[in-house]
Amino acid sequence: MSYHDELAGTVQALVDGPKGLLAADESGPTIAKRFKSVGVESTEENRRAYRSLLLATPGLAEFVSGVILYEETLAQCDADGTPLPQRAARSGLVPGIKVDTGKIALAHASGDEITQGLDGLAQRLEGYRRQGARFAKWRAVYNVSDTLPSRLAMEVNADALARYAAICQEQGVVPIVEPEVLMDGDHTIQRCAEVTEAVLHQVFHALHRHRVVLEHMLLKPSMVVPGKVQTAAAPDDVAASTVRVLRRTVPAAVAGIFFLSGGQTPAEASANLAAINRLGPQPWPLSFSYGRALQEPVLDAWRGQAANVRVAQDALLKRARLNSAARAGRYDAAMESAGRSG
Ligand code: 13P
Repeated sequence: MSYHDELAGTVQALVDGPKGLLAADESGPTIAKRFKSVGVESTEENRRAYRSLLLATPGLAEFVSGVILYEETLAQCDADGTPLPQRAARSGLVPGIKVDTGKIALAHASGDEITQGLDGLAQRLEGYRRQGARFAKWRAVYNVSDTLPSRLAMEVNADALARYAAICQEQGVVPIVEPEVLMDGDHTIQRCAEVTEAVLHQVFHALHRHRVVLEHMLLKPSMVVPGKVQTAAAPDDVAASTVRVLRRTVPAAVAGIFFLSGGQTPAEASANLAAINRLGPQPWPLSFSYGRALQEPVLDAWRGQAANVRVAQDALLKRARLNSAARAGRYDAAMESAGRSG
């Protein structure tokens, strides 16, 4: 089978049905922060136990098609000795891998950041494929103010995203391209729309220059929302602004758009996704690839205790089910309280 067929098959499996993605690819410092919030120490064993819990959630594959893992997780095993990528695959979840190595300050551009990890990427991808990964993720971040992000930050991050995506496709791995316009700050929803539109224009310009096959990639954008310091916008406003920007910037050939949650509460992320899908059919499926908005209630239920695994899995299944309903435009806030698992 050529990589063309394999990439098409992976994309098809990921965009399948009324499903979304689970982002469980927190880096070492980020998972330590998440664990700390529920009083759990970030040891290798605790991370293994937690990620095993997520991947073994009964019924998850009904609502989730793929899971993004962190490098450490690819090499870990569940309690039966099954490697976690195989555990995911047996549960019906396509395993993916975060391949960027994080962000640093962009030189000579105060307030802007650039994501690293291109050196040796092709070789790393070969290894990840052997471990079972079929898709990858790279996150670029954009800080927002009246003057940020600079044109330079938009250009260099777009170029890095496009080089990453091209390298992935050459290695038979489907790239998820994630440009995240951050919610931090007091900017308006209009400013977020303006920045997101400029960012996505640069990203697709670079993807074109790097000959990335749009049918064989997924986009993981942020929704168009006001900064966190502002009052949250109504879901209908988020939906209208988000879809307007996407229609202006994302070619119809892109296989799917899977939003990040970016600091929205779990209920906000579901309500906004539902409002987006209620606007009617768009050129691409519009779904979720949430980290915090799927996992917050799970961590809160688990708290590092083996006795809480079942209730934590119930919490994950509930959020996955509600977001699957949101992908179909059928989520309603009243569904939040309808029974323990939704
Ligand atoms: P959040 O949904 O918590 O933003 O995480 C998604 C993600 O993958 C960030 O890179």
